[in-house]
Amino acid sequence: MFDMHHYETAISKIVSTETEEELILRGHRLSDLIREASFAQSVFLMLTGHMPTPGQARTLDAVFTACVDHAVTPSAMIGRAFASYGTSIPAAIAGGILMFGDIMGGAGEPLARLLTQALQTVAPDGGDIDDQAIQKAAGYLIDQTVQSGARMPGFGIPAHAKDPRAPALLEVAQTSGAAGPFCRLLVATEAELARRKGRPIPINIDGIVAAIVLDMELPPECVAAFVMIPRSFSTLAHHLEEKGQGTRWRHVPQDQVTYTGPMPE
Ligand SMILES: CC(C)(COP(=O)(O)OP(=O)(O)OC[C@H]1O[C@@H](n2cnc3c(N)ncnc32)[C@H](O)[C@@H]1OP(=O)(O)O)[C@@H](O)C(=O)NCCC(=O)NCCS
Repeated sequence: MFDMHHYETAISKIVSTETEEELILRGHRLSDLIREASFAQSVFLMLTGHMPTPGQARTLDAVFTACVDHAVTPSAMIGRAFASYGTSIPAAIAGGILMFGDIMGGAGEPLARLLTQALQTVAPDGGDIDDQAIQKAAGYLIDQTVQSGARMPGFGIPAHAKDPRAPALLEVAQTSGAAGPFCRLLVATEAELARRKGRPIPINIDGIVAAIVLDMELPPECVAAFVMIPRSFSTLAHHLEEKGQGTRWRHVPQDQVTYTGPMPE
């Protein structure tokens, strides 16, 4: 029987004794991590219980940088609107995160599940996966989604002809040795999607983060969080800037709204 008043955790522990004040994070002193580790290394350690390789740490840091801002996107709009209404920064950051969904920022997790399923289908025993198997997995992915009229999560972006973050992140993952079969499958899927649609629908930020997360053997649930959490800094920055501009009552002007309901008799 589980004791509902007791918590068990392997993540962290507060130490407060006559000789030491410390926080133990997955077997490491936080004061040592503060001195020696990066934010990305500490996040990876906290999530997995072990330190990332240098290549994984470099790539995760690049993921956080890639997600830090994307102009006045919905989470930044929320930051600015909340500043304009005098609403607090914690509320703005929470509101900014709540803007993310299946269409924006949340497409990585379903893609991560599809990528996993596709590789399991062509290589159920794991091991080395050759280019032919990767190609077959890309075809399987397209058959599962686009063939039935659905969109392939992690591909396409309205703001750019090609999402500049994806190739830059892929390059970091490849050169640092953090990229693996999931990044290869993502690239093969981009080519196969272009072939079937007759035009390029490039990998977007959710797509590349999904493949990197899987190649780092992190759970698919991490993908959206890795996009949204760094983006909170964007909500903060836009909130602060808007507040500095002294705007009041940001709203949609009436001439931009068409009322389509009935008028009273
Ligand atoms: C992000 C997204 C909404 C942007 O769409 P958009 O650039 O405005 O493009 P449209 O919705 O106008 O679609 C234009 C065409 O491209 C196709 N298309 C766009 N993204 C596609 C995708 N991911 N998979 C398959 N087809 C796609 C559409 O089906 C449409 O094709 P058609 O002309 O044959 O009907 C869209 O690409 C999408 O739904 N992607 C999947 C979700 C996702 O990854 N979101 C995260 C974004 S960071």
